[in-house]
Amino acid sequence: MRGQSVMPYALRPMGPHDIDQVAAMEREAFPTLWPPTSYRRELKNRVAEYLVCVHEGEFVTVTPPRRTRLLRLFSRRNKPTAPLQVPLLVGFVGLWYQAGDAHIVSIAVREEYRRRGLGELLLIGAVEMATRRGQQVVTLEVRASNDAAQALYAKYGFTQTGLRPRYYADNHEDAVIMTSDPLGSAEYDALFAGLRKAFEERHGEATREYL
Ligand SMILES: CC(C)(COP(=O)(O)OP(=O)(O)OC[C@H]1O[C@@H](n2cnc3c(N)ncnc32)[C@H](O)[C@@H]1OP(=O)(O)O)[C@@H](O)C(=O)NCCC(=O)NCCS
Repeated sequence: MRGQSVMPYALRPMGPHDIDQVAAMEREAFPTLWPPTSYRRELKNRVAEYLVCVHEGEFVTVTPPRRTRLLRLFSRRNKPTAPLQVPLLVGFVGLWYQAGDAHIVSIAVREEYRRRGLGELLLIGAVEMATRRGQQVVTLEVRASNDAAQALYAKYGFTQTGLRPRYYADNHEDAVIMTSDPLGSAEYDALFAGLRKAFEERHGEATREYL
């Protein structure tokens, strides 16, 4: 029944086993980003929080990282680590909390999974996490040419609040700063609740393990 369906996707906090897939998604979505993000460091960053979008029931095979020399020395069986089946990740979003602002530092969906609501699901997750952390607004920088991302943020009530000329090193493109209305304000709460309801009616409910 419409509005009662369940999406085969779940949002949950990123963990150490997700790093390889998240790094691969970053390379696909932001091929000119250099240096790449150290997600190992990000997992220890107290002001950062990441969510991954899991495709439930789909798995990929990964080779676990080799044990460190010290661990190999103490390990009784010195066998190479066997490949593992892990859940397929199809998107991720990262937030940094800075002086009351929740800054979306990255958001991406695997190319073959775009245009089916997953970017929106990740943005809903980001707004919900920022709200729970008592942040005042959600803000981000986006390339001036990135119409898809700007349309997504505009749908969630983000407006242009600034411009950083020639911000991106690869092509000197401007960054548009987009910011939400104050989280927790009656206006934004009503807008967000309406959008979330419309999202669930259209796409179904997704498990959100960070709540
Ligand atoms: C931006 C991105 C995350 C959107 O993810 P997505 O899963 O395709 O988006 P959704 O299907 O959830 O779309 C949600 C809304 O975003 C907007 N949108 C998404 N893709 C769009 C496109 N190609 N053109 C226009 N609007 C688009 C629409 O408003 C859409 O709402 P609608 O379905 O009611 O029209 C995805 O395109 C991506 O990973 N891009 C590469 C990485 C990137 O640019 N990240 C942003 C950095 S600031």
